[in-house]
Amino acid sequence: MPDTTQAHSIADLPAQKAAAPASAAEGRARYFNTGNAFNVQLPPVPDHAFADEPARALDPATPTGLIPCDISGVLGCDFPATSPFVLARYARIRAGEELAVNFIASGVVHYVIAGSGITVSGDETVNWQAGDVFVTPGDSGQTHRAGDSDAVLWIVTNEPQLAFERSQNPLPGAAPTGVVHYPAAEIDRQIALIYQVGRGEEIAGSALIFSSDMQEASRNVLPTLTVAMNSLPAGVVQRPHRHNSVAVSLVIRGKGCFSMIDGRRKDWSPWATTITPPVSVHSHHNAGDEQALFLIIQDGGLFYHARAMGFEFVDA
Ligand SMILES: [Fe+2]
Repeated sequence: MPDTTQAHSIADLPAQKAAAPASAAEGRARYFNTGNAFNVQLPPVPDHAFADEPARALDPATPTGLIPCDISGVLGCDFPATSPFVLARYARIRAGEELAVNFIASGVVHYVIAGSGITVSGDETVNWQAGDVFVTPGDSGQTHRAGDSDAVLWIVTNEPQLAFERSQNPLPGAAPTGVVHYPAAEIDRQIALIYQVGRGEEIAGSALIFSSDMQEASRNVLPTLTVAMNSLPAGVVQRPHRHNSVAVSLVIRGKGCFSMIDGRRKDWSPWATTITPPVSVHSHHNAGDEQALFLIIQDGGLFYHARAMGFEFVDA
């Protein structure tokens, strides 16, 4: 029994236990209060950029394998994580070699940075090439095989979300997505359509949002993950805004581009994975002379479902 006689406020009380537990289950109980339960300080999500990981993934000397963007130590998570609910990795697959993976996730998002190849997921096969996006369901593993040249993939999952709950892959046939393929040429066509039709200022940027037949109602690719190809014409600034979802982004093309995150300038580097922390005020700036492209994964589905997206423009 802890000594509580010195406590001046319920905020000073340590975790309380049953005075005389009659069972092991009663002995496991802990009791907190309004003073000491809601002041747990988690480390904030940093505005980190992963630049070494893509350099390694693109280095011909790197063998076939996965390179995680893991800051679990910074986040205080006991599982690999790029953000509390999202994990990004690069995969290098040497020409003609295979990489078999089986992530504990509800689904897996892929972007092809370089090369071409095939991915087998369950009884389906995706033939991919540079610039493609494809999604595989989390109820089976995937085997990636590179073609005649080395291939590099960017692979993003919600593994931290499942690890947080200590849950497992969906049961066979129960994944919230099928195999979905967005070829590069079709992505280009869809982006061109967005610019052709145009938009008003109340729409935050000119992004292509990826969804599927199974997730059409949610406009997501997975119940929790939203995937968008954002584009920024030369000389354009995306209006400052914030939202409660985190963004984990891949710089696809961004010479002369930078982001402002809570007043800090973050220069883009080729194929970097960047973190835009939740709630941070951010804007993206293209000071270069070509259209910028970046693929954004957000845990936005979580916040939409909770009716707590918290999107707002924050003009200076
Ligand atoms: Fe944003």
